[in-house]
Amino acid sequence: MTRRITIANQKGGVGKTTTAVNIGASLATLGKSVLLIDVDPQGNVASGLGVDIGERPTIHDVLLGNAPLSAAISETTSEGLYVVPSSPAMVAAERELIAGADSPFRLRQAVEKLDGFDFILFDTPPSLGILTINAMLASESVIIPVQAEYYALEGLTQLLSAVEYVRDRLRHPIKIEGFVLTMFDSRTRLAGDVENQVRRHFGKLVYETIIPRNVRLSEAPSHGLPVIDYALASRGAQSYLSLTNEILSEAFA
Ligand SMILES: Nc1ncnc2c1ncn2[C@@H]1O[C@H](COP(=O)(O)OP(=O)(O)O)[C@@H](O)[C@H]1O
Ligand SMILES: [Mg+2]
Repeated sequence: MTRRITIANQKGGVGKTTTAVNIGASLATLGKSVLLIDVDPQGNVASGLGVDIGERPTIHDVLLGNAPLSAAISETTSEGLYVVPSSPAMVAAERELIAGADSPFRLRQAVEKLDGFDFILFDTPPSLGILTINAMLASESVIIPVQAEYYALEGLTQLLSAVEYVRDRLRHPIKIEGFVLTMFDSRTRLAGDVENQVRRHFGKLVYETIIPRNVRLSEAPSHGLPVIDYALASRGAQSYLSLTNEILSEAFA
């Protein structure tokens, strides 16, 4: 059985892509087969993993029904980790998709035909538009990265409404897999305050593991590598491995 998880937060720069790529790579290192699907028009999942799009179809072709998902899958240098790249053409996808009645379900239709992966992870744009909705409808659950800064909680209300919309209006029983605190700077009191607030609000849904601000995490994509292959001993790599173990242990709890 494939587990399908969307990484979402409509705020930009909170660590969605970093989280998708590094949970994906950590799962692959732990022996799982993983497909990362990039639905962000600004997508940099593929380039961050050193994958050249070349002439292959992208997620844009898949969403428009011009290519099967299987044709858009590329290998990465990490064993067990595969990627479906986004493309700049995705900027138009919101508009191109809006017409069809089945437009929220395109991604689900595409992934349902695919098997052989233990995990499929969707990286999403910083918006709650049709692309993020497509990813949610193709997933069983959502992981929400929360940057430990002022106003972190404010945007979450909107995000949780989108999850409810998917559940109630679109009748898809998606659950919240967990909230993960990202870019955490333990030297500041603010970070600790935000952590307390998030834990008070969301309790057990907040992962114990906190992702620290760590320069290796921001350097790794420019080397085309996930952080575990770039700097395994770094706190960034170790924290994503720890987070991944939490995700796995909950899955089988
Ligand atoms: N824990 C972290 N420590 C340091 N830099 C980080 C961390 N997480 C993300 N970054 C960097 O912050 C920027 C935004 O992160 P990204 O994952 O692209 O966010 P999003 O996908 O939500 O827009 C990127 O340059 C990324 O390399
Ligand atoms: Mg991103």
